[in-house]
Amino acid sequence: MKLKIKLPLLFLLMFIIFMFSIGMYLKLVFAVYSPIRSSLLDSRYIALLLPIFAIACFIFIILIIYIHFCIEKPIQLLNTRLEEVNIVHPLPPLALRSNDEIGELYKHFNKMEHRLQLAHKEQIDMIAAIAHDLKTPLTSINGFTELLATHKDLPETEKQEYYDLIQRKSGYMVELINDFSSFTKEKLELESMVAKPVKASKLFENIALEYEYELAGLDNELTCRHSFTENILLMVNEPMIRRVFGNLFSNAVRYGGKNKLKVYMTGYPLGQYAFFQIEDNGIGVPDKDISSLFLKFFTVDKSRQIQKGGLGLGLASCKSIIEHHRGEICAYPSEYGGLGIRFSLPLAAQH
Ligand SMILES: Nc1ncnc2c1ncn2[C@@H]1O[C@H](COP(=O)(O)OP(=O)(O)OP(=O)(O)O)[C@@H](O)[C@H]1O
Ligand SMILES: [Mg+2]
Repeated sequence: MKLKIKLPLLFLLMFIIFMFSIGMYLKLVFAVYSPIRSSLLDSRYIALLLPIFAIACFIFIILIIYIHFCIEKPIQLLNTRLEEVNIVHPLPPLALRSNDEIGELYKHFNKMEHRLQLAHKEQIDMIAAIAHDLKTPLTSINGFTELLATHKDLPETEKQEYYDLIQRKSGYMVELINDFSSFTKEKLELESMVAKPVKASKLFENIALEYEYELAGLDNELTCRHSFTENILLMVNEPMIRRVFGNLFSNAVRYGGKNKLKVYMTGYPLGQYAFFQIEDNGIGVPDKDISSLFLKFFTVDKSRQIQKGGLGLGLASCKSIIEHHRGEICAYPSEYGGLGIRFSLPLAAQH
């Protein structure tokens, strides 16, 4: 039976029981103390019960209206919406009515729908990206082999040039396939990840030292500043977190678009988390693309230039590593002019 029938029936039953109990109680009281000693149908007795009846009626009607509009209707709306979920042509998000449990249910539903849409977009992007990245070298290989097959009289030096090109292009394809499979392997590694307590200050300083040196070698500059005290510990898998920093620094250098790029690394504790920021003063990312940066196979430069070699997996991988550590990661336009990436890692419980 549906709630919209069950609830009024339940209220009706409660109302009858309530009125019956009050009636019986009053009869009992009056039987002892009052001059009203006649039957239940006595007009004086009914006149006494009538206001109670009216008040009870009023309260029950208010309750029914409240439950109908605040519980039953929103659930019905959610039900209809669940039946209509359409990932390809998404409907506008459900309007939030209140901050109670139903409001939270709506919020979680909207989030779930958004995640489904992102997963769908990622799937499409992934197929398009794999097809595109493999098609480009394959088209060249095809062209060169056709040329070699049809022009048998080509000079040896020219033939050798084409063989070299074919080798380079097929090498690039092997690299691409290796990148795809290492991304899937990393997902499996994350499932069995072991976290250990690590001093936040030490982790920060070690990474800063490593990249200060590396970036200086590329004629870039790294500025580091943190406010972690000695006793702040993080529960992390250090090699994985190092991989995140590695991805972020290599992105800054690759896409900063400047010769003497300045990169800023900041660390600070806030509440139960340690926050890390990597920012640069490069060309940054257009506002419209910022929210898509963590999607698999997303690259700002749609031409997916081979010389930069970006598959669009680095930031997606950073996101899954950070989320496996129960932290969060986001991108924002940095005050230094380029891109800023901020991520949080939960602090280890202090004993
Ligand atoms: N610091 C940055 N400045 C400007 N653009 C950036 C920066 N970092 C990332 N991007 C843009 O975000 C896109 C996604 O980055 P991501 O690291 O996910 O992939 P990728 O570097 O292209 O490929 P991969 O990391 O798999 O080799 C990049 O292609 C680039 O266009
Ligand atoms: Mg990258």
